[in-house]
Amino acid sequence: MTRQDTTDHGRNAVEVRGLVKHFGDTRAVDGIDLDVREGTVMGVLGPNGAGKTTLVRILSTLLRPDAGTATVAGYDVVRQPRQLRRTIGLTGQYASVDEKLSGWENLYMIGRLLDLPRPAARKRADDMLERFSLTDAAKKPVMKYSGGMRRRLDLAASMIGNPRVLFLDEPTTGLDPRTRNEVWTEIKHIVADGNTVLLTTQYMEEAEQLAGELVVFDQGKVIAEGRVAELKARVGGRTLEIRPADRGEVHRVVGALAQAGLDGTAGATADEKRGVVAVPIISDEQLTAVVGLLAERSIALADLSTHLPSLDEVFLAITGQKATHLAGENETEEVAA
Ligand SMILES: Nc1ncnc2c1ncn2[C@@H]1O[C@H](COP(=O)(O)OP(=O)(O)OP(=O)(O)O)[C@@H](O)[C@H]1O
Ligand SMILES: [Mg+2]
Repeated sequence: MTRQDTTDHGRNAVEVRGLVKHFGDTRAVDGIDLDVREGTVMGVLGPNGAGKTTLVRILSTLLRPDAGTATVAGYDVVRQPRQLRRTIGLTGQYASVDEKLSGWENLYMIGRLLDLPRPAARKRADDMLERFSLTDAAKKPVMKYSGGMRRRLDLAASMIGNPRVLFLDEPTTGLDPRTRNEVWTEIKHIVADGNTVLLTTQYMEEAEQLAGELVVFDQGKVIAEGRVAELKARVGGRTLEIRPADRGEVHRVVGALAQAGLDGTAGATADEKRGVVAVPIISDEQLTAVVGLLAERSIALADLSTHLPSLDEVFLAITGQKATHLAGENETEEVAA
């Protein structure tokens, strides 16, 4: 996807070629090629067991690959693990901070582990807590933090050593939408500072918010890749949902849209049970026109919303089959008390 881009858009922060990792009979990573340009966010999408965490663990030197090569910031994962570790930060799928210590103590300890002198470690802990809006909770033990606070502390912890490349393994799984947004904001800041992020996620919206480019994994293989817009276009863009105040009007809405030629390529469909009309949206103009038409016909609305294709729909479109093992909203799994 980006192999030809090295001259146009700067260097690759991550380069993976033919990477393989087996666990017994399981081909967790099964011949993956991947480039991540410096200063960008790469989203790795995929269902449970697709190999996302295995890739992150190899790239952060926690696992040795069976075959293929991978470099991060130019350092080989197998031959130069020590240099490599100094340039990366890692936020694992499961929280890595100590529950009994306070947020500040956790960050200070990590600073010391990274060989910062005491005053520098203290200052770094203060700065990071401030940056991730945790100053008020600095002295609280982590066991009293909310899910969102923990995730922000995890991010702060992975940033202590000023890493140029950050690996985030499902940074917002299990968080509510508001705290998810807070974490996204922090990740955006990290990238705005010129750092590179490789992020795994099961949320299309997260990929959309953060990632310039995406790869979709399934069973250890890349099954699709490209810019977010390209993948979305492949699954048919947005859907507009119209809920008339009177649910008996769903067919009138469908008829009006068809008459006006505003029902999209696949046509508008009525879901009588839910009292909703779904319209595939191809352009913002179409969206505006639909809203105008409904007003013109005096069709009172209870609700109007657009939604993006779900990961399920992407899967359906890409693989042609239902991803039966797709995860839903994972239970909060980061609390390992
Ligand atoms: N240490 C291990 N020993 C044996 N099998 C493993 C090990 N780690 C991962 N696997 C297997 O490798 C495959 C890929 O797992 P991985 O954790 O990389 O998936 P994932 O995409 O991160 O999934 P999730 O979305 O659930 O986090 C799975 O079949 C998993 O059971
Ligand atoms: Mg995982």
